[in-house]
Amino acid sequence: MTTSTSSKGSLQLFPFLDLKAQYRTIKPEIDAAIQRVMESQQYILGPEVESLEKEIAAYTQAQFAIGCASGSDALLLALMALEVGPGDEVVTTPFTFVASAGAIARLGARPVFVDIDPITYSLDPGKLETALTPTTKAIIPVHLFGMAVDMDSIMEIANTREIPVIEDAAQAIGAKYNGRAVGGIGLCGCFSFFPSKNLGAAGDGGLLTTNDPEFADNLRVLHNHGGHSKYECEVIGMNSRLDALQAAILRVKLRYLDAWTEGRQKNATRYSELFKSRGLDRILGLPRVQTGCTHIYNQYVIRAPQRDELKAALRGCGVPTEIYYPVPLHLQRGFSYLGYKPGDLREAEAVSREVLALPIFPEMSAGQQDLVVNAIATFYGTRAFAP
Ligand SMILES: Cc1ncc(COP(=O)(O)O)c(C=O)c1O
Repeated sequence: MTTSTSSKGSLQLFPFLDLKAQYRTIKPEIDAAIQRVMESQQYILGPEVESLEKEIAAYTQAQFAIGCASGSDALLLALMALEVGPGDEVVTTPFTFVASAGAIARLGARPVFVDIDPITYSLDPGKLETALTPTTKAIIPVHLFGMAVDMDSIMEIANTREIPVIEDAAQAIGAKYNGRAVGGIGLCGCFSFFPSKNLGAAGDGGLLTTNDPEFADNLRVLHNHGGHSKYECEVIGMNSRLDALQAAILRVKLRYLDAWTEGRQKNATRYSELFKSRGLDRILGLPRVQTGCTHIYNQYVIRAPQRDELKAALRGCGVPTEIYYPVPLHLQRGFSYLGYKPGDLREAEAVSREVLALPIFPEMSAGQQDLVVNAIATFYGTRAFAP
């Protein structure tokens, strides 16, 4: 078995995410796509971006798709299109990547955090209503790790109050909720093409989806300097376009996305079966796919007692893991001005102390998975693995 070295210098039996393995399988097509853009010398907007937007709209069952520079910008643009600003509140989850709430704060609005459900790790719809006030301008649920949030409950509350819902679908492209693709259930969906996502670019990239033609038009104007045409400024917008090179690469990768997601799902099922066969499901919290949801497993996250010791032991065996997320946003220094304190959002705080993401990339072999499970079993002192 080949070994690799982590960014922190420790020896790993294999990487947490093997993007080199992915590239090897599609190298001729990716290289040809890059070459095509180089030959065209059309780098900003143009046919590659337009084609990708159409293809992703079809993939996510949305009427409109608008590329932008990152998932963070997608969130920012969605909030800008709603004219969110100082004096407004936007409700979201504290247990997510910083960008979900950063976009709110960036516009001078106040992020209001609602505690999470301890099983799904997503915003708990049962706690949503009490967080809403007359100044709530939007709700941002996050389809965390690749599984849809309970959108029916959220949409029911939001629709009653006529509050727009922006779905943070950065980690969940292709995930379904009662047969509907995430990103097209609320007013809009925000996607990220960060390289570690199931559909990852060769750099930053993002995209918005919506079924609302007026909102789509607003987004198109805002992401390209605030005008419908060159040198026209109707509103103050920004430069947040998806590069043609990234679009061309993503168009190749989109053709493989379902197969890759199936690979992740297969690996997730195998992990869960292995853990159960070793009795480890009595110790660990395993991902639980909710009724009506599909899970695309951008991450396979377990809840593990003595998490930090387990992570260190796995590192010692050359098994890479990650912690998503070690500190909930309401306790991050950058959000301290909001005045939250430890104990305010207990589920998010408890989950942050126990979650551990295991490698789940599609090219992962059964042998590599066995190594992970073995090492975890050894840590918890259960019987040795017999292949
Ligand atoms: C839940 C969530 N929201 C937003 C983002 C921001 O996306 P990007 O990194 O493309 O800006 C990410 C990316 O990691 C994410 O995981």
